[in-house]
Amino acid sequence: MASIELRQVSKIYPGSAAGVKDIDLSVADGEFVIFLGPSGCGKSTLLRSIAGLESITAGDILINGEIVNHVAPRDRNIAVVFQSYALYPHMNVWQNMAFGLRMRGSPAEEIDAKVKEAAELLGLTPLMQRRPSALSGGQRQRVALGRAIVRDPQAFLLDEPLSNLDAQLRAEMRLELVRLHRKLGRTTIHVTHDQVEAMTMGDRIFIMKDGRLIQQGPPLEVYANPADTFVAGFLASPPMNLVSGRLVEVGDGLAFRTDGAMLPIPAAFRAAYAAWAGKPVIFGLRSEDFHAAPNGDSSAPLTLQVEAVEALGPENILIGRLAGAPTQVSARLSRHYSAQPGESVTLYADLTPMHLFTPEDGKAIPRPRAAPALLRRHA
Ligand SMILES: Nc1ncnc2c1ncn2[C@@H]1O[C@H](COP(=O)(O)OP(=O)(O)OP(=O)(O)O)[C@@H](O)[C@H]1O
Ligand SMILES: [Mg+2]
Repeated sequence: MASIELRQVSKIYPGSAAGVKDIDLSVADGEFVIFLGPSGCGKSTLLRSIAGLESITAGDILINGEIVNHVAPRDRNIAVVFQSYALYPHMNVWQNMAFGLRMRGSPAEEIDAKVKEAAELLGLTPLMQRRPSALSGGQRQRVALGRAIVRDPQAFLLDEPLSNLDAQLRAEMRLELVRLHRKLGRTTIHVTHDQVEAMTMGDRIFIMKDGRLIQQGPPLEVYANPADTFVAGFLASPPMNLVSGRLVEVGDGLAFRTDGAMLPIPAAFRAAYAAWAGKPVIFGLRSEDFHAAPNGDSSAPLTLQVEAVEALGPENILIGRLAGAPTQVSARLSRHYSAQPGESVTLYADLTPMHLFTPEDGKAIPRPRAAPALLRRHA
């Protein structure tokens, strides 16, 4: 079992400015966390640094409270499952899974027992004699996991292990990994850029951008309280609607004004936003907070000029503009509500979960955090 802590860790590749910078994070013993971020943001670099496969250029990495900066990868007792699986093509499944233990010089009976147990756990028993070339992507992925499990590491680092799988297999493996974690209880860091994996698999997510850690927390809490427009846009599909405009005083209240809409700010946020009255702001509201009828205490009607409709089956996404506004927004409505491109429809925005961001750096303007009731409603 292992806790993992990073203190001001940087890894800058020689001759370039790329890598990861000033990362502070800690993962508790037995926790399942997610590293999420766009391609090239440094997820693999960070994972490889924790495993000892990259030497860091600054900071400290601690495992169980001990600094391991100079401890060799094999002595960190952490298993990495790579983006590419990296199976040995000339070995069959059994040999692939047994390889690490054989190198370690474990007794033959022990190797056999551990490989059998892991194979059973992963449903690989009927495939033990096959080579990787005769396996599907999902089966290869399970072999790579099995190879990690038999080593009985104190932590698993999984680098986008599901990225090569089709949607159905991905969904199955998602549940499988969560089940395995529950069973084995090992500290796990799972790297992904998949929304669903990020929201559903881990205790906490760490969102990265350009080599830096931008925000961390339980998935629903980050979803409800994004730290900036990047997180707001990244952690959802479709991304949070972001509309530029101005905060204005209306009577003794506040409203967000943009071309085509005037949206009253809920009273609960008035004090927090008061200092921004008269200033340009970015207004953020998620697509599911639009409704076909008034919903909740803070519903505001608005007119959407529909430009496109995506009928997904369970729901319809209406994409369009608030009358005359330059920015496109998307509204996620039930499958029972639809419209035609070119139509103007009245929708109701539930403003309770709204956010304001500064136009300068996109940071969220602090306001009372989304209440637990709100989190429950999202769940
Ligand atoms: N060996 C290397 N030498 C120089 N630069 C590198 C090296 N490996 C990665 N980089 C750069 O470091 C940055 C982070 O790369 P990294 O592979 O960690 O990203 P990632 O978040 O895992 O991306 P992806 O989602 O595409 O796997 C990128 O800009 C990449 O080009
Ligand atoms: Mg990567």
